[in-house]
Amino acid sequence: MSADEQKRAAAKRALEFVEDGMTLGLGSGSTAAHFVDLLGARVADGLSVRCVATSEATAGQARRLDIPLTSLDELGSLDLTVDGADELDGQLRLVKGGGGALLREKIVAAASERMIVIADESKQVATLGKFPLPVEVVSFGARASVSAIEKMAEKTGCRGPVTRRLTDAGTPFQSDSGHDIYDCAFGEIPRPEALAVVLNAVPGVVDHGLFIGLAERAILGTRAGIREIVRPGRPDGKES
Ligand code: A5P
Repeated sequence: MSADEQKRAAAKRALEFVEDGMTLGLGSGSTAAHFVDLLGARVADGLSVRCVATSEATAGQARRLDIPLTSLDELGSLDLTVDGADELDGQLRLVKGGGGALLREKIVAAASERMIVIADESKQVATLGKFPLPVEVVSFGARASVSAIEKMAEKTGCRGPVTRRLTDAGTPFQSDSGHDIYDCAFGEIPRPEALAVVLNAVPGVVDHGLFIGLAERAILGTRAGIREIVRPGRPDGKES
Protein backbone atom coordinates (compact mmCIF):
# COMPACT_ATOMS: atom_id res chain seq x y z
CA MET A 1 0.00 0.00 0.00
CA SER A 2 1.21 3.48 -0.80
CA ALA A 3 1.30 6.11 1.96
CA ASP A 4 -1.87 7.61 0.55
CA GLU A 5 -3.63 4.23 0.58
CA GLN A 6 -2.50 3.76 4.18
CA LYS A 7 -4.00 7.15 5.07
CA ARG A 8 -7.30 6.23 3.43
CA ALA A 9 -7.40 2.83 5.14
CA ALA A 10 -6.86 4.52 8.52
CA ALA A 11 -9.60 7.03 7.74
CA LYS A 12 -11.97 4.23 6.78
CA ARG A 13 -11.36 2.43 10.07
CA ALA A 14 -11.92 5.68 12.02
CA LEU A 15 -15.32 6.01 10.40
CA GLU A 16 -16.38 2.91 12.34
CA PHE A 17 -16.28 5.03 15.51
CA VAL A 18 -18.82 7.49 14.14
CA GLU A 19 -22.41 7.00 15.25
CA ASP A 20 -25.61 8.60 14.09
CA GLY A 21 -26.34 11.86 15.89
CA MET A 22 -22.73 12.53 16.91
CA THR A 23 -21.01 15.88 16.99
CA LEU A 24 -17.62 15.65 15.28
CA GLY A 25 -14.41 17.63 15.01
CA LEU A 26 -12.96 17.42 11.52
CA GLY A 27 -9.16 17.57 11.35
CA SER A 28 -6.94 19.13 8.71
CA GLY A 29 -4.36 17.81 6.28
CA SER A 30 -4.26 15.07 3.67
CA THR A 31 -5.18 12.18 6.02
CA ALA A 32 -8.08 14.04 7.61
CA ALA A 33 -9.24 14.93 4.08
CA HIS A 34 -9.72 11.21 3.39
CA PHE A 35 -11.87 10.96 6.53
CA VAL A 36 -13.98 13.96 5.49
CA ASP A 37 -14.38 12.47 2.03
CA LEU A 38 -15.59 9.12 3.42
CA LEU A 39 -17.81 10.89 5.96
CA GLY A 40 -19.39 12.86 3.12
CA ALA A 41 -20.41 9.61 1.44
CA ARG A 42 -22.01 8.39 4.69
CA VAL A 43 -23.86 11.70 5.10
CA ALA A 44 -25.14 11.38 1.54
CA ASP A 45 -26.45 7.95 2.57
CA GLY A 46 -28.39 9.48 5.47
CA LEU A 47 -25.97 9.62 8.43
CA SER A 48 -26.85 12.53 10.72
CA VAL A 49 -23.88 14.38 12.26
CA ARG A 50 -23.00 17.95 13.15
CA CYS A 51 -19.38 18.94 12.56
CA VAL A 52 -16.83 21.60 13.46
CA ALA A 53 -13.92 22.11 11.05
CA THR A 54 -10.39 22.80 12.28
CA SER A 55 -9.42 24.89 9.24
CA GLU A 56 -10.92 26.91 6.44
CA ALA A 57 -9.64 24.27 4.00
CA THR A 58 -11.52 21.49 5.81
CA ALA A 59 -14.62 23.67 6.12
CA GLY A 60 -14.55 24.18 2.35
CA GLN A 61 -14.26 20.46 1.71
CA ALA A 62 -17.10 19.70 4.14
CA ARG A 63 -19.35 22.30 2.49
CA ARG A 64 -18.69 20.82 -0.95
CA LEU A 65 -19.77 17.42 0.41
CA ASP A 66 -22.88 18.83 2.15
CA ILE A 67 -21.61 17.77 5.57
CA PRO A 68 -23.50 19.85 8.16
CA LEU A 69 -21.13 22.37 9.76
CA THR A 70 -21.61 24.43 12.85
CA SER A 71 -19.36 26.27 15.28
CA LEU A 72 -17.74 25.07 18.47
CA ASP A 73 -19.44 27.95 20.25
CA GLU A 74 -22.79 26.61 19.12
CA LEU A 75 -22.09 23.11 20.44
CA GLY A 76 -19.78 23.81 23.38
CA SER A 77 -18.23 20.35 23.18
CA LEU A 78 -17.91 17.48 20.73
CA ASP A 79 -18.25 13.71 20.89
CA LEU A 80 -15.29 12.82 18.70
CA THR A 81 -12.49 14.45 16.74
CA VAL A 82 -10.61 12.62 14.01
CA ASP A 83 -7.40 14.26 12.85
CA GLY A 84 -4.00 13.48 11.35
CA ALA A 85 -0.56 14.09 12.83
CA ASP A 86 2.93 14.89 11.66
CA GLU A 87 4.48 12.59 14.27
CA LEU A 88 3.24 10.37 17.06
CA ASP A 89 5.06 8.28 19.63
CA GLY A 90 4.10 5.15 21.55
CA GLN A 91 2.46 7.20 24.30
CA LEU A 92 0.29 8.97 21.73
CA ARG A 93 2.07 12.25 22.17
CA LEU A 94 1.76 14.11 18.87
CA VAL A 95 3.45 16.78 16.82
CA LYS A 96 0.89 18.63 14.71
CA GLY A 97 0.70 21.83 12.75
CA GLY A 98 2.51 20.92 9.55
CA GLY A 99 -0.43 22.44 7.72
CA GLY A 100 -0.53 25.43 10.06
CA ALA A 101 -3.89 24.54 11.65
CA LEU A 102 -2.55 23.59 15.09
CA LEU A 103 -4.40 26.23 17.12
CA ARG A 104 -7.90 25.34 15.96
CA GLU A 105 -6.96 21.66 15.93
CA LYS A 106 -5.95 21.80 19.58
CA ILE A 107 -9.00 23.79 20.66
CA VAL A 108 -11.29 21.31 18.90
CA ALA A 109 -9.44 18.24 20.19
CA ALA A 110 -9.47 19.57 23.76
CA ALA A 111 -13.22 20.18 23.54
CA SER A 112 -13.84 16.62 22.37
CA GLU A 113 -14.76 13.65 24.49
CA ARG A 114 -12.49 11.51 22.32
CA MET A 115 -9.74 12.20 19.81
CA ILE A 116 -8.65 9.59 17.29
CA VAL A 117 -5.49 10.13 15.28
CA ILE A 118 -5.22 8.67 11.80
CA ALA A 119 -1.94 8.35 9.94
CA ASP A 120 0.22 6.31 7.65
CA GLU A 121 2.94 4.22 9.27
CA SER A 122 5.70 6.77 8.55
CA LYS A 123 4.27 9.06 11.23
CA GLN A 124 5.14 6.83 14.19
CA VAL A 125 8.51 7.65 15.73
CA ALA A 126 10.45 6.54 18.80
CA THR A 127 11.23 10.11 19.81
CA LEU A 128 9.34 13.22 18.71
CA GLY A 129 11.19 16.08 17.07
CA LYS A 130 12.50 15.05 13.69
CA PHE A 131 9.54 16.90 12.20
CA PRO A 132 10.14 20.57 13.07
CA LEU A 133 7.77 21.59 15.86
CA PRO A 134 5.38 24.33 14.69
CA VAL A 135 4.76 27.18 17.13
CA GLU A 136 2.07 29.78 16.49
CA VAL A 137 3.24 33.26 17.45
CA VAL A 138 1.63 36.72 17.49
CA SER A 139 3.33 38.96 14.90
CA PHE A 140 3.85 41.84 17.35
CA GLY A 141 7.28 41.45 18.90
CA ALA A 142 7.81 38.07 17.30
CA ARG A 143 11.57 38.46 17.41
CA ALA A 144 11.50 38.69 21.20
CA SER A 145 9.11 35.74 21.39
CA VAL A 146 11.42 33.63 19.22
CA SER A 147 14.43 34.47 21.44
CA ALA A 148 12.41 33.40 24.47
CA ILE A 149 11.32 30.18 22.70
CA GLU A 150 14.98 29.33 21.99
CA LYS A 151 16.04 30.10 25.55
CA MET A 152 13.23 28.17 27.22
CA ALA A 153 13.48 25.20 24.85
CA GLU A 154 17.17 24.87 25.62
CA LYS A 155 16.30 24.40 29.30
CA THR A 156 14.41 21.24 28.29
CA GLY A 157 17.26 19.89 26.16
CA CYS A 158 16.02 21.22 22.81
CA ARG A 159 18.28 23.17 20.51
CA GLY A 160 18.04 23.96 16.81
CA PRO A 161 17.05 26.57 14.26
CA VAL A 162 13.70 28.32 14.73
CA THR A 163 12.56 29.67 11.39
CA ARG A 164 9.54 31.63 10.26
CA ARG A 165 7.34 29.60 7.94
CA LEU A 166 6.93 30.96 4.43
CA THR A 167 4.39 30.12 1.76
CA ASP A 168 5.47 28.49 -1.50
CA ALA A 169 5.45 32.02 -2.95
CA GLY A 170 8.00 33.08 -0.32
CA THR A 171 5.66 35.32 1.66
CA PRO A 172 5.15 34.90 5.44
CA PHE A 173 2.67 32.13 6.16
CA GLN A 174 -0.31 33.17 8.24
CA SER A 175 -2.56 30.81 10.16
CA ASP A 176 -6.34 30.91 9.79
CA SER A 177 -6.32 32.98 12.98
CA GLY A 178 -3.86 35.49 11.49
CA HIS A 179 -0.71 34.51 13.36
CA ASP A 180 2.82 33.60 12.26
CA ILE A 181 4.12 30.05 12.44
CA TYR A 182 7.71 29.32 13.47
CA ASP A 183 9.13 25.85 12.87
CA CYS A 184 11.56 24.59 15.52
CA ALA A 185 14.01 22.06 14.09
CA PHE A 186 15.06 20.49 17.37
CA GLY A 187 15.86 17.06 15.94
CA GLU A 188 14.82 15.35 19.15
CA ILE A 189 12.49 16.44 21.93
CA PRO A 190 13.68 14.48 24.97
CA ARG A 191 11.04 15.88 27.36
CA PRO A 192 7.88 16.80 25.42
CA GLU A 193 5.80 17.58 28.53
CA ALA A 194 8.45 19.95 29.86
CA LEU A 195 8.83 21.65 26.49
CA ALA A 196 5.05 22.09 26.21
CA VAL A 197 4.93 23.79 29.61
CA VAL A 198 7.74 26.25 28.90
CA LEU A 199 6.44 27.14 25.43
CA ASN A 200 3.00 27.89 26.84
CA ALA A 201 4.64 30.36 29.23
CA VAL A 202 6.32 32.47 26.53
CA PRO A 203 4.47 35.76 25.94
CA GLY A 204 3.44 35.97 22.30
CA VAL A 205 3.20 32.21 21.85
CA VAL A 206 -0.42 31.42 21.05
CA ASP A 207 0.08 27.66 21.03
CA HIS A 208 2.39 24.94 19.81
CA GLY A 209 2.11 21.67 17.96
CA LEU A 210 2.72 19.33 20.90
CA PHE A 211 -0.56 17.51 21.59
CA ILE A 212 -0.13 15.61 24.85
CA GLY A 213 -2.87 13.71 26.65
CA LEU A 214 -5.40 14.44 23.92
CA ALA A 215 -5.40 11.44 21.58
CA GLU A 216 -6.85 8.28 23.03
CA ARG A 217 -6.34 6.08 19.98
CA ALA A 218 -4.13 6.08 16.91
CA ILE A 219 -5.15 4.21 13.79
CA LEU A 220 -2.17 3.59 11.55
CA GLY A 221 -2.37 2.36 8.01
CA THR A 222 0.63 0.10 7.38
CA ARG A 223 1.83 -2.12 4.55
CA ALA A 224 0.64 -5.07 6.67
CA GLY A 225 -2.80 -3.57 7.36
CA ILE A 226 -4.30 -1.48 10.14
CA ARG A 227 -2.44 -1.16 13.45
CA GLU A 228 -3.97 0.59 16.45
CA ILE A 229 -2.41 2.09 19.55
CA VAL A 230 -4.63 2.90 22.51
CA ARG A 231 -3.39 5.21 25.21
CA PRO A 232 -3.63 3.46 28.56
CA GLY A 233 -5.09 5.24 31.56
CA ARG A 234 -7.19 8.02 30.12
CA PRO A 235 -7.17 10.83 32.69
CA ASP A 236 -10.96 10.75 32.97
CA GLY A 237 -10.79 7.06 33.87
CA LYS A 238 -13.09 6.05 31.02
CA GLU A 239 -12.48 2.98 28.92
CA SER A 240 -11.36 3.70 25.39
C1 A5P B 1 -2.36 20.39 10.09
O1 A5P B 1 -2.01 21.59 10.69
C2 A5P B 1 -1.64 19.27 10.73
O2 A5P B 1 -1.69 19.22 12.09
C3 A5P B 1 -2.00 17.94 10.12
O3 A5P B 1 -2.87 17.21 10.90
C4 A5P B 1 -0.74 17.21 9.97
O4 A5P B 1 0.15 18.07 9.31
C5 A5P B 1 -0.90 15.91 9.21
O5 A5P B 1 -1.10 16.18 7.86
P1 A5P B 1 -1.10 15.04 6.79
O6 A5P B 1 -2.25 14.16 7.10
O7 A5P B 1 -1.27 15.77 5.48
O8 A5P B 1 0.21 14.34 6.88
